[in-house]
Amino acid sequence: MFIPTHIETLIRQHKSAGKTFNAYVYDTAPLQEKVALLQAIMPQGLEVFYAMKANPHPAFLQAALAAKVTGIEIASLGEANKAVNAGFSPSQLIYTGPGKSIEELEWSVTHRVRTIHIESLVEAHRLNAVCAIQGKTMEVLLRINANFDIHDAQTTFSGGSKKFGIDEEKLNEALPQILALPHLHFRGLHVYAASGVLDVDDLLHNCKLVFDLTKSIEANYAGVNCDIIDFGGGFGVDYLEAGINFDPKAYADGLAQMIADYGFAGRHFVLELGRWLAADCGYFCTEIIDIKTSRGKKQVVCAGGINHFRRPAALAINHPAQIVAMHVGKLFAEQETIHQEKVYFGGPLCTSADKLANDIYIEDAQVGDIAVFGLAGAYGLSMSNVGFLSHAMPQEIVYTPKATA
Ligand SMILES: Cc1ncc(COP(=O)(O)O)c(C=O)c1O
Repeated sequence: MFIPTHIETLIRQHKSAGKTFNAYVYDTAPLQEKVALLQAIMPQGLEVFYAMKANPHPAFLQAALAAKVTGIEIASLGEANKAVNAGFSPSQLIYTGPGKSIEELEWSVTHRVRTIHIESLVEAHRLNAVCAIQGKTMEVLLRINANFDIHDAQTTFSGGSKKFGIDEEKLNEALPQILALPHLHFRGLHVYAASGVLDVDDLLHNCKLVFDLTKSIEANYAGVNCDIIDFGGGFGVDYLEAGINFDPKAYADGLAQMIADYGFAGRHFVLELGRWLAADCGYFCTEIIDIKTSRGKKQVVCAGGINHFRRPAALAINHPAQIVAMHVGKLFAEQETIHQEKVYFGGPLCTSADKLANDIYIEDAQVGDIAVFGLAGAYGLSMSNVGFLSHAMPQEIVYTPKATA
């Protein structure tokens, strides 16, 4: 991994002598560039939403707003409030995710979010009841747990037994009930296959499946149109630095061809992207507190662990890592350092689950240096165990071009 100069400059600027450094450093420029790229290459009718669960920091929301994403995919009332505070209108919010509470449904109906993506029959009936009380109708998509999964994806959201959506096999039972609910206006389908997918063909296969489902629903139910088709998120990033990058142009071209083949022009197509937009906007930068050899392996203990950066342990992968040398003097002559070896990185927590990376090659490092983990802009702090051991939160430092000019 290569740490951009402006990121290293920010680390050095914010590292004060005698104070432990533990921070996320963000530069949201890649998010804006990627949204602009998608807007330029995607087929007519495709709308890009930012899945803010990847990183709900205001700088990311503001970057998404400035890039003119169609809106924000939210999955909680907390996310709704953050999106609105950042300048999005409720009509730009699409509400997904299982387990929406009554308060969340009430807020969504009161404030008129754009669509609510129904995850179960219970949710459909609950939403209908909320709408009835308020005398309103809500636009809904039906989330389907398709009978299809992408085996080598980092996380799958469809196929097998899932808490997401309604099983494809139960569609004939569920759809008539949903269509009969007087306060719900059915607008289409949401089928999100998997997250972290690098192979374009896998995601296009999911699109084809959704198109087939759309055709069969429209053939079986007179007057029903799926005029919004939501493919969820899923574009992957190259955590393993294997040189495999998701190819958005191939995806765009494949989707455009499919839309033409199915005669689906004129519909709305939705992408809710988190990881691909946010990952390379962030670096988790944590000071090396201790280095010791334990039974033949170097153990590196950092200021922050899974309390601040849980993703590598949760997904059992190493993020790319590099060291910013701080040249702190040794405390004693025999103090251990790292030189061209594979080591274990952990945090300060009293659990062996507290792993930042394992068997990761480091050129040189010593106590006091800053370990920098890349591709940490997505699912970094937002999916970490921040309460465990009550350590202070890491700083979140945002690069603004004039701040370091
Ligand atoms: C409903 C929904 N949409 C979008 C996303 C974003 O997915 P990704 O980060 O893979 O783009 C997620 C991630 O979990 C999700 O659950």
